[in-house]
Amino acid sequence: MTGDDPLEESESGEPLTDGGDETAAPQSELRSDGGAAGADDVALDPWGSSSVSDYRKLFEEFGIEEFDEVLEEVPNPHYLMRRGVIFGHRDYRPVARALQNDEPAAVLSGFMPTGDPHIGHKLVFDEIIWHQQQGADAYALIADLEANSARGMSWDEIDEHARDYLLSLLALGFDLEEGELYRQSANRELQDLAFELGAEANFSEFQAIYGFDGETDVSHMQSVVTQMADILYPQLEEPKPTVIPVGPDQDPHVRLARDLAERMRFFKVSEAYASFELEDEERALVADFYDRLDPAEFDDDTLRCVHVAEALEETPLSELEVGADTLSSVLTKLQEAGMEPIRPRTRFFDRRATDEAFDALIEAVEGEKRVYENHVDAFELDRAAAEELAREIEVDNGGYGFQPPSSIYHRFMTGLTGGKMSSSIPASHISLLDDPEDGYDKVKAASTGGRETAEEHREKGGKADECPVYELYAYLLAGDDDEFAKRVYDECTGGERLCGDCKEQAAQLMREFLEDHQEKREEVAELLEAADIELESPRRR
Ligand code: TRP
Repeated sequence: MTGDDPLEESESGEPLTDGGDETAAPQSELRSDGGAAGADDVALDPWGSSSVSDYRKLFEEFGIEEFDEVLEEVPNPHYLMRRGVIFGHRDYRPVARALQNDEPAAVLSGFMPTGDPHIGHKLVFDEIIWHQQQGADAYALIADLEANSARGMSWDEIDEHARDYLLSLLALGFDLEEGELYRQSANRELQDLAFELGAEANFSEFQAIYGFDGETDVSHMQSVVTQMADILYPQLEEPKPTVIPVGPDQDPHVRLARDLAERMRFFKVSEAYASFELEDEERALVADFYDRLDPAEFDDDTLRCVHVAEALEETPLSELEVGADTLSSVLTKLQEAGMEPIRPRTRFFDRRATDEAFDALIEAVEGEKRVYENHVDAFELDRAAAEELAREIEVDNGGYGFQPPSSIYHRFMTGLTGGKMSSSIPASHISLLDDPEDGYDKVKAASTGGRETAEEHREKGGKADECPVYELYAYLLAGDDDEFAKRVYDECTGGERLCGDCKEQAAQLMREFLEDHQEKREEVAELLEAADIELESPRRR
């Protein structure tokens, strides 16, 4: 496929490239670049335009972590992980570890049935299925409440598209016997959980996170608490590491869900040095002085709050890594505590525990402990043991004991015509329902990272990192075959692989993929009918 044929369209005199956006961030590695073109902003808006021009900003500005850093800990990583298509995560380690050790874990994602499922959605289907195959409990949901409230879809449209999403998910290998499918509106337990979570969030917060205002309708807000419940749903029976595979536009939801998971906990475990509470910065300061000062130098060999206060006062502010406010607040607390000894301890703060749970905790803390009105201090428990105990007591006393949910983020695919892939622009994407011949044609008509002329292409090599067609290979067509993906990349950038042949090969593979996928969809149709999910909305129109 890498012959000497000229680039396509050269006879017609048309340009051979897509005029790719030269301002796009250069890719230094052998990686596909899902965000080649696009605006220069990195706002993450779940209901807005979701293009990301520079994935690095997501690490710096939003605290998403690089997936490469956990890759080593993942057993049999999926090709989307190996190829950097899954580029980021939040707190994925507990999930990787659970998969590694055959411990309980879960995966969940949701789909708004606003149109046909396309090859971008396939990434998420694959991520769910892969986690299921690695032993995680798998959940996929139809976000019908969100589609209706945030996108104005009618229930008829929703029903039609929902079926299509589910058929593709099953056709790609989701195991119905092991996994669970549901639609938001028909899941009573989910709605109950949404209600509980809603009590921990308020409008100002929605305003800050999502830009909601006085015009935002209440159903839209309800769809947000519903999504929070979706994300925590796999933990209803027992807490477990749970991963939510999504595009980075969903990160605001993930962050809020992590917060809510925490707010629902009975106890907050922290480290303390005396009976009073310290902010994180203050605690670091006290910890530092606790390490520096030798108790033997004080009366009765005991380091007391006043001693630390004195030592702090003798230290110039410029030598401390905190501001004047923090210093003065710590000093006040230390001085008020006076002769109280400074002793490191693990604290269980009572956030929303029942009286029984609080009593049970006091009972369960081993070794020396001290009980206060709103907290218990344990002197012989380390942080990890305390976290475990807090969760155990909570669950035994009827609490959820949620673990903060984790997430992984995949790159958005570039549209076949350049720009972003969008369900509303048919030529930009390939629907999983497209006639295989149309799929073939769309690939043949796609823009590429090829050079102006065959000669220049051979000389300089193609720009695979900016090529929607190379992306098709990396994200889908090469499947699990890394060598094939790499060969396409190397041949392209080395100038041997010209766009005409490359697209022909990709187009044929796409046609085969669609034929095969659609055949499988027919095969699983019966399974879906038998599945425990409502396919029709019992709604008034
Ligand atoms: N909001 C998601 C979207 O726009 C759909 C969704 C609903 C979802 N609930 C979810 C995604 C839970 C992940 C997890 O596509």
